[in-house]
Amino acid sequence: MAKYYVNAAARKAKINKEIYGHFSEHLGRCIYEGLYVGEDSEIPNVNGMRTDVVEALKEIRIPVLRWPGGCFADEYHWKDGIGPKETRKRMINTHWGGVVEDNSFGTHEFMELCRQLECETYVNGNLGSGTVQEMSEWVEYMTFNGVSPMADLRAKNGHPEPWKVDFFGVGNENWGCGGNVTPEFYANEYRRYQTYVRQYSAQDGDIPSIDTPELIRRIACGANVADTDWTEGVLHTLFRHCDEERHGNLDGLSLHYYVHPEGWKIKGSATEFDEKVYYKTLSKAQHMDDLIRMHGAIMDKYDPEKKVGMIVDEWGTWYTVEPGTNPGFLYQQNTMRDALVAAITLNVFNHHADRVRMACLAQMVNVLQSVILTDGPRMIKTPTWHVFDLYKLHQDADLVESWIETDEIGAEPEFQVPELSESASVDADGHLQLTVANLSLTEEKAVDAAIAGFVIGSVQARILTGDAHAMNTFEEPDTVASCEFNGVRVTADGLAFTLPPCSVIRITCFPR
Ligand code: AHR
Repeated sequence: MAKYYVNAAARKAKINKEIYGHFSEHLGRCIYEGLYVGEDSEIPNVNGMRTDVVEALKEIRIPVLRWPGGCFADEYHWKDGIGPKETRKRMINTHWGGVVEDNSFGTHEFMELCRQLECETYVNGNLGSGTVQEMSEWVEYMTFNGVSPMADLRAKNGHPEPWKVDFFGVGNENWGCGGNVTPEFYANEYRRYQTYVRQYSAQDGDIPSIDTPELIRRIACGANVADTDWTEGVLHTLFRHCDEERHGNLDGLSLHYYVHPEGWKIKGSATEFDEKVYYKTLSKAQHMDDLIRMHGAIMDKYDPEKKVGMIVDEWGTWYTVEPGTNPGFLYQQNTMRDALVAAITLNVFNHHADRVRMACLAQMVNVLQSVILTDGPRMIKTPTWHVFDLYKLHQDADLVESWIETDEIGAEPEFQVPELSESASVDADGHLQLTVANLSLTEEKAVDAAIAGFVIGSVQARILTGDAHAMNTFEEPDTVASCEFNGVRVTADGLAFTLPPCSVIRITCFPR
């Protein structure tokens, strides 16, 4: 029996809805086929965006979408993707799979997609191979509401009104595919480029921070995995000769971390794995907690008031591609193991909501740990989609104090995980939301929850469970799906329930 403690009166931080964000790159079949099929497609669409996919994404309340990359961002020249489609440049996507990029999905299409998804926009600029002028003009094109060359060009291309850019990334992975530069060099470049990411809607005296939604929030390129040298080097240079109240002229610092069960070179199969690899995968997912603490400690030194958000804008599992698919397309299946990776990671993000202010799963459709897979006109929701569906009630809720006493489990001493993962919040309607995952491959687990600061009237619960290898396929799309769970009992001091092995539950408590 595991003892679970929740104090609903101890509010810790707001869980930004953006923690449940997504990432879509010009990579494989994410944008083309997955999201965008063009107006003339036989697949039902609105202005070229697949209706089935948009509807499925709206169900899980996508809060924010990052685009156009990834590594693609630092090779992307935005002017190639505007104007009449027949005159847009055709080129090879040299980074991903060597296929033709016809630029039919560009800035206008991205903004249209976000309009349909009703989500915020996170545009990633090109620092690696672009110029300051190019980046500056893109921001002017998208956001300036007045007379100017770029605003006029936007109007000429059919959109007189400016768009809202909520977040703007100044380069991506500049320690690698975005230019292979040093932290100090990147930070100097960031200082220069961000100067021209103009805040056209700012009033006199407005200073952006991660908490100013009316302004563009600027995201600097952060570290890969545990590279604290990058975090320290970038922040040291950004905070030098910078007015204290401008907190390094950045509003977010990214972190990228992928789970490769068998290491970067081998990666491992998405669907075939044994007990050892299962626990290794989950233990690597749990490692996100260490990484946030590590980089967070450095951020605290420079930014103790937490005006700069940690933005984990690429996370998820990265396996060997599905047999027979283009290795450059990064297409992989998704099983209950991925659902548990998502449950662990989202619980970790919730617990660090004071510093982690946005996160983007990589990637939304048909690439890496997707929530949606498509095959021609067919579409399936993956087990990971179902976790996002369960967890969506945490969006913009208040994280509350909670912890669980649980055993460590695993098949190898160096890859142990806590048997249970959890987080708890109180939402705007005053409902207490608990999400708990049983990571055991084989054992059910009884949980006795002591709940303080909340008098429970009734509960509703949904569960996602199945064999670790269970997945949805185009032939059997609903093998893994959440269902109502009636096994939660209200006790004198809280709740009691038993979780089957390999399961994720959401319990909503309504006050008496
Ligand atoms: O998500 C795939 C790639 O992983 C992205 O393009 C890059 O930023 C990262 O290395």
